[in-house]
Amino acid sequence: MEEKIRQIKAEIESGIGQYETGEALYEFRKKFLDNKEGKIPALMKGMKDVPPEKRPEMGKVVNEVKGWAMAQFEAAEARVKALELQKKNESERVDVTMPAKGQSVGGLHPNTIVAGELIDIFAGMGFEILEGREIENDYYNFTALNTPKDHPARDMQDTFYLSEDFLLRTQTSTGQIHAMESGKPPIKMLSPGKVFRSDDDATHSPMFHQMEGLVVDKGITLCDLKGMLDTFSEKIFGEGVHTRLRPSYFPFTEPSVEVDVSCFACGGKGCKLCKGTGWIEVLGAGIVNRHVLENCGIDSEEYSGFAFGMGVERIAMLKYGINNIKALYESDTRFAEQFKK
Ligand code: PHE
Repeated sequence: MEEKIRQIKAEIESGIGQYETGEALYEFRKKFLDNKEGKIPALMKGMKDVPPEKRPEMGKVVNEVKGWAMAQFEAAEARVKALELQKKNESERVDVTMPAKGQSVGGLHPNTIVAGELIDIFAGMGFEILEGREIENDYYNFTALNTPKDHPARDMQDTFYLSEDFLLRTQTSTGQIHAMESGKPPIKMLSPGKVFRSDDDATHSPMFHQMEGLVVDKGITLCDLKGMLDTFSEKIFGEGVHTRLRPSYFPFTEPSVEVDVSCFACGGKGCKLCKGTGWIEVLGAGIVNRHVLENCGIDSEEYSGFAFGMGVERIAMLKYGINNIKALYESDTRFAEQFKK
């Protein structure tokens, strides 16, 4: 029995230092201290073979070795635990001096940039912003704008009808009616928003954005419109840019005009952008047709007004030299990156 004890002690002493994980150490401990298979409990069980007079003494020795072995393992466990913690800490260490991953920051879409600039310019001139609705009825989109059913001008815009009466607005001119119905002159409002037309090519999209302007007061003339447009075009396209008016037709304005700006790329000499003419068409406008004023309960003898409507995409394309409107809707980041400030 003493020989066995000596062997057990030697085995523990030589083996215990080599374990580096709690699991392995636990397996090693089981060999000696496990109640069922451990060598030390086996010694206890072997006591029955010891002559009775020697039992108390041997019992003491066996208990001592058990106590000793437990202390050994306790110390070894503490060592292994510390080692494991150190390894874990090392593997999870964060190098705070490492350069950070690049965070890409978004930018504004060219439509948003231009719409923002337009709103700033007109708000600066005292225009109130009035956002309309995208689903309209026939009355606001056409009839009130002096375009009754069967009027040939309805063909100017291919309309998406939702039902007999409801449609996706084809123009922000609907905002004119809402403004005149909800407020009394003097009126000075700008209505930005989405419009829809069944039209699709390099310069047209079924959905695009417009800005509508309306001024109604006593004694408003075409000169007021022209003066405001000259100020506006210098602000949006640059100093020295001025406008010219060409006769046109819209059912809700009389007279109606097409507004050109002098080419901001060549200063009017003629270039690729203005197709050699020195002028670029940017918007439609005119003096509010008296029928439209009357439809909204405004006395056309007392009041007059001007209105204008422009396409946001068209201005963005001109300003940034974009030749296909689809580039504005494709969400290609290589395109979008170019407008980052
Ligand atoms: N609503 C017209 C269009 O979409 C533009 C316009 C607005 C013309 C106001 C005159 C006055 O083409």
